[in-house]
Amino acid sequence: MLAPGRQATVEETVTEDMTAQRLGSGDVPVLGTPAILALVEAAAVTAVAEALDPGTTSVGASVELDHLAPTPVGGTVTATAALAEVEGRRLTFRFEVTDAAGPVARGTHVRVVVDRERFLDTARERR
Ligand SMILES: CC(C)(COP(=O)(O)OP(=O)(O)OC[C@H]1O[C@@H](n2cnc3c(N)ncnc32)[C@H](O)[C@@H]1OP(=O)(O)O)[C@@H](O)C(=O)NCCC(=O)NCCS
Repeated sequence: MLAPGRQATVEETVTEDMTAQRLGSGDVPVLGTPAILALVEAAAVTAVAEALDPGTTSVGASVELDHLAPTPVGGTVTATAALAEVEGRRLTFRFEVTDAAGPVARGTHVRVVVDRERFLDTARERR
């Protein structure tokens, strides 16, 4: 059931591909903010995937993310997203990301439930 309380966690080891330097989001070789967002979105998607009606999916609509501390290559990061609110098709998640030393990021992420085919049609029409 699509209700507050659902949550999921993803864990990953930081590789060179995930650094700000490699992603172009900075020039330092530490975990980049876009890579953190990707982990958070993966956790949020997983948290609700099995509760969605067939033919629907969730798409990322907005994010508010505080990046609190740097994580080096080789470190392990864990992102947990928990469904906090369901308002119609809008799903609001609270998330936290940690590494071995403590908090790395936290914030709020909104996803919207869409019909997969209609959503892809909209994207195609924008070409
Ligand atoms: C998210 C999206 C599908 C919403 O479009 P839509 O269905 O026409 O939007 P609607 O106006 O019907 O909004 C649906 C609900 O989501 C909410 N919503 C839409 N965009 C939002 C946003 N950016 N932030 C927060 N809430 C949003 C609306 O308030 C509405 O909530 P309600 O039903 O409680 O009123 C559209 O903005 C979009 O395609 N965004 C791009 C998504 C994307 O490409 N993500 C990357 C791939 S996952």
